[in-house]
Amino acid sequence: MLIVDNIGELVTMEGPTGPRRGSLQGVVRVVKNAFLAAKDGKVIAAGPRDELPALLSGLERSREQDQEESHEESREKSQEESREEVTVLDVGGRAVVPGFVDAHTHLVFAGWRYQEYVMRCQGATYQEILRAGGGILETVRQTRRATEEALFHRALSFLDEMLSLGTTSVEAKSGYGLDAENELKQLRVLRRLKAEHCLDVVPTFLPAHAIPPEYWRDREGYIQEIIGSMLPLVRREGLARFLDVFCDEGAFTSKEARRILVRGKELGYEIKLHADELRNTQGAELGASLGAVSVDHLCMISQEGVRALRESDTVAVLLPATSCFMGKDYGKLGRKLVDAGVPVALGTDFNPGTSPTTSIPLCMTLACSMSGLTPAEALTAATWNAAWAIGLGGRVGGLLPGMQADALILDADSYNEIPYRFGANLVWKVLKKGKVVFQANKGRVVR
Ligand code: NIG
Ligand code: FE
Repeated sequence: MLIVDNIGELVTMEGPTGPRRGSLQGVVRVVKNAFLAAKDGKVIAAGPRDELPALLSGLERSREQDQEESHEESREKSQEESREEVTVLDVGGRAVVPGFVDAHTHLVFAGWRYQEYVMRCQGATYQEILRAGGGILETVRQTRRATEEALFHRALSFLDEMLSLGTTSVEAKSGYGLDAENELKQLRVLRRLKAEHCLDVVPTFLPAHAIPPEYWRDREGYIQEIIGSMLPLVRREGLARFLDVFCDEGAFTSKEARRILVRGKELGYEIKLHADELRNTQGAELGASLGAVSVDHLCMISQEGVRALRESDTVAVLLPATSCFMGKDYGKLGRKLVDAGVPVALGTDFNPGTSPTTSIPLCMTLACSMSGLTPAEALTAATWNAAWAIGLGGRVGGLLPGMQADALILDADSYNEIPYRFGANLVWKVLKKGKVVFQANKGRVVR
């Protein structure tokens, strides 16, 4: 058992179950002078420090009872077993928050695209570069050439980087293969990452990210291949929980997205959607009508789209690092959605084209300063709501008894410092399933 003691400010996210919307998004429950106890990977108690002695003597009593109930001959053994080690970690008044959940990443890819960034800084647009065969297609070329082993090791180091910035669960998409062989390659990398890294990795299949070059004269042919062959294949292999489509100008139309997603749902995928990023294509409405778990981006969402989301259980995932990196300002989008009663989550959108950052704290700053959220709303978006956006709601994203003990011990007095101290990494230690897996200055302790 681990007891994190002497916490100056503990954020538990106590409150109603389900994604938090409207005024609930901004209610962050804080306990001052707190402790957190974890056992077998889960939180067993969290609260004010003066409740700690009662917890410990309660545990002692139940241990004694167990011993009395056990048979004479096995008493010695049971004493041995029950003399469970209690490690106390005094955190010297630091703040503790739930581990961040990154609700949207494109984690597995080869190469970078900094040349494109140079071009964009000189005035070229993302769509121009994509139309000229660069952009996503450049990463597709490089990812197809890369071995599974190389992709795995690269993505592993990205997960380490995320962990050092406080991310403890991450959604990750394929989408740089765009044929069965290479999409499977990316998804197998995700499966292996899940097995070999301590982070929780939730895999999403994204075959409809762009039309691959071999189908440029036969769009419908690629859609047929997705529907008829790739979707059932990935499902049979059990390689992805979610199915996502890039529904936007220059990518897939809402009609095409609907066909792909409807077939995916029939096959048992849960649904996500890149929606209304570059143009309004009624992606939010489409996602809501199909019962998508999340719709992501939403920079160009319409009033009807906002209404459709408000009436649904779909979570809006905002990716403010992408807008920032693309030099776009979409006004107070976060504010608009929260005020309308839409639950908002955050993600980095980590990818080599539009968001080469792994930092959720940076996204929180942008969500506050550019998109109009309060730090409390941004924290809910980066923890509790992000967990619901990737199908881990109630398991991660909070520090309530029974939830996974994924926590960040911050070199800070308050969670408000996370977005405020932008550019700094305040993470002092990361706990994953009740174990210290990262320590500042020491790097990763356990993978
Ligand atoms: O979410 N929008 C589509 N996909 C990514 C960009 C991928 C890329 O440019 O490589 C995104 O922004
Ligand atoms: Fe994306």
